[in-house]
Amino acid sequence: MSGFSNMFMKSILFTISFGLCVLYASAELHKFAHSSKHDGSLNFLVLGDWGRRGAYNQSEIAFQMGKVGEKLDIDFVVSTGDNFYDNGLTSDQDTAFEESFTNVYTAKSLQKQWYSVLGNHDYRGDVEAQLSPFLKQIDNRWLCLRSFIVDSELVEIFFVDTTPFVEKYFTETKHKYDWQGIIPQKSYITNLLKDLELAIKESTAQWKIVVGHHAIRSVGHHGDTQELIKQLLPILQENDVDFYMNGHDHCLEHISDTESSIQFLTSGAGSKAWRGDIQETNQGGLHFFYDGQGFMSVKLTQTDATIEFYDVSGNVLHRLTSSKNLRSSM
Ligand SMILES: *[C@@H]1O[C@H](CO)[C@@H](O)[C@H](O)[C@H]1NC(C)=O
Ligand SMILES: [Zn+2]
Repeated sequence: MSGFSNMFMKSILFTISFGLCVLYASAELHKFAHSSKHDGSLNFLVLGDWGRRGAYNQSEIAFQMGKVGEKLDIDFVVSTGDNFYDNGLTSDQDTAFEESFTNVYTAKSLQKQWYSVLGNHDYRGDVEAQLSPFLKQIDNRWLCLRSFIVDSELVEIFFVDTTPFVEKYFTETKHKYDWQGIIPQKSYITNLLKDLELAIKESTAQWKIVVGHHAIRSVGHHGDTQELIKQLLPILQENDVDFYMNGHDHCLEHISDTESSIQFLTSGAGSKAWRGDIQETNQGGLHFFYDGQGFMSVKLTQTDATIEFYDVSGNVLHRLTSSKNLRSSM
């Protein structure tokens, strides 16, 4: 492209994206800025399905996270939900918050910001409790919203509240869910998807990551989440999302999308694991499945992503790397 038409295109693009910003300045998703390291890189840990007052190896995993967190000099921790078992928090005064979070993740390297989504178990308690700013006064690492964005310029991470997508929770009678702020479900989901799609389209970050509690693809106990395959996945495929990270299944997994370059990564092994079931019929794109406890680390630079899965002893069980070209500077 000649210099002139290149400039022309850029000014059109600028006008379009500027126009969008103005038009949709009222989008719902809250965006938090989190700067990268001085050299432009960013490292974080991903953990899911954990809060059991240290039991089921939760404390052992916390210990290994501390070691890996120090080695990688992590910038923050991501929680993929099911933060407090069995039924979320009863209120923002619930001592489970300290017993399962503050008193467990005590390593120095883990005294960083935590970004958390809600899982289905969290919806069985007082959901608003986990969103309450009061928790930040008890432990200032805590940040949990239903859906939000963390933007470091290098990477934009879109946190999505996936529990309201799952139809069976609205009809099952075995458990009570706190749907305050969700009903009517249809418009909640429509609005969320609209805000998300807009935000992903606007993103100029080198890496785009989406985090939710439920798996899009999983060969574990719960398997795929059909509602997310139908409603969420197309948005990720159309917008060059690199990774979808989730919990819910109490295992570690790496599955490649068969229709795009998205990698599905499950980190839901923060405490109780070893369910022992793997879905035989559902294994397209499967690279790695581990049914025991563990967690995941993510290292990002402008050109490379390295993701590693660890077990309860800190052994690296699986590693994936992904590279892309430097973005030409505008
Ligand atoms: C803790 O981890 C060890 C090693 O993976 C495993 O053998 C043991 O069963 C785990 N304990 C529980 C309660 O899951
Ligand atoms: Zn769950």
